[in-house]
Amino acid sequence: MNNKAFTIKKVTLSSTAVSIIWKDNKKSLFHFLWLRDNCPTSFHPDTRMRIFNILSVSKDVYPMKIKKGNNNLIIHWSENNHISKYNLKWLRNHCYTNNDQRTIAKNIFWKNNLKSKLSLISLNYKKIIKYEKNFIQWLEILTSYGVTIIKQSPTNTNSAFKILKKIGPYRETFFGTPFEVVNIPKPNNQAYTSDGLPNHTDLPYYEYVPGYQLLHCLKNTAKGGNTTIVDGFSVARYLQKNEKEIFDVLTNTKVKFKDNDYTQKSLRIFYSPIIKLNSEKNFDEIRINLGAMATLDIKSNKMKRFYEAYRFFYSLLHNKKYLVEFKLSKGDLLCFDNRRVLHGRTSFDTHSGNRHLQGYYIEREEIISKLNYFHKTMI
Ligand code: OGA
Ligand code: ZN
Repeated sequence: MNNKAFTIKKVTLSSTAVSIIWKDNKKSLFHFLWLRDNCPTSFHPDTRMRIFNILSVSKDVYPMKIKKGNNNLIIHWSENNHISKYNLKWLRNHCYTNNDQRTIAKNIFWKNNLKSKLSLISLNYKKIIKYEKNFIQWLEILTSYGVTIIKQSPTNTNSAFKILKKIGPYRETFFGTPFEVVNIPKPNNQAYTSDGLPNHTDLPYYEYVPGYQLLHCLKNTAKGGNTTIVDGFSVARYLQKNEKEIFDVLTNTKVKFKDNDYTQKSLRIFYSPIIKLNSEKNFDEIRINLGAMATLDIKSNKMKRFYEAYRFFYSLLHNKKYLVEFKLSKGDLLCFDNRRVLHGRTSFDTHSGNRHLQGYYIEREEIISKLNYFHKTMI
């Protein structure tokens, strides 16, 4: 916004609010209680937490005097002899007149055409570590495409902690951090075999499913073991537009997911729709995992329709129109939104070479908070 946006043309008072017309002709209303509540003195200088108690003034508090300064607006309040000085730029940035819900990053939906444009989502490890600009760029691509590949990262074990710690604390699960994606005897998860894995989201039996997943490729010389990814939101959007009944079944039917592998002294069970919308009716998450779907107990009169809808969605999630397949190389760090982008792999031949990935999880809110910090929004 330019200077005009932060300069006042006219201030007037109504019985409940201060009205400002800015030099760019936009109008803002600021209610008295809101203004009093957000006086700069209301906040602790270090914690930046509010210390002003809204009950320390009456509901009828009002400006007795209001003065336009160069860069600020000064209000003498009717109670407690209090004077507030608001920075104009701050006021305009916090204008809530006609604002839409703020969204940090817009989803960029993709299909199999991403395959020929993998460079769009590929970044260099060293640059991300070294330059803030590249670090921010990584997080921005990650939140808009839901997937990135960091190239040329070190391949010593546990080394992906370094990049994860640049963002914030990781999310622990019973698989440990990192979890070792290798072929082992007596596996407690299908990922720890050499079998192919159909496209899935991880850990659907958790109430709060980890947001982002990192798969760090340390070795990948075995034949096979290609990675597949699909934008679950992109496919869900197709259903929303073209197959409304199927979409309704998948957003309204609670499906049972579970983990009771032999190493666990827990029986994790969670019921959730396969496609979940948030309160603004935008896509919130996809939960789908053939291996972790329990024996279903959907109401008898809904079972047939559910299986039809589920099959339809599941087949689209493996349709070449949407699928991107590639092979991870040693040093690649595949990062994706585990509640949006499905991942899978083709089977691999354990006799032909080695394959070792290390996996990590981190919450969506850690990534978003880091971006907020850099963008300095909403404070
Ligand atoms: C996983 C997984 C994929 C792979 O560990 O959750 O899906 O490529 N791994 O091994
Ligand atoms: Zn997985």
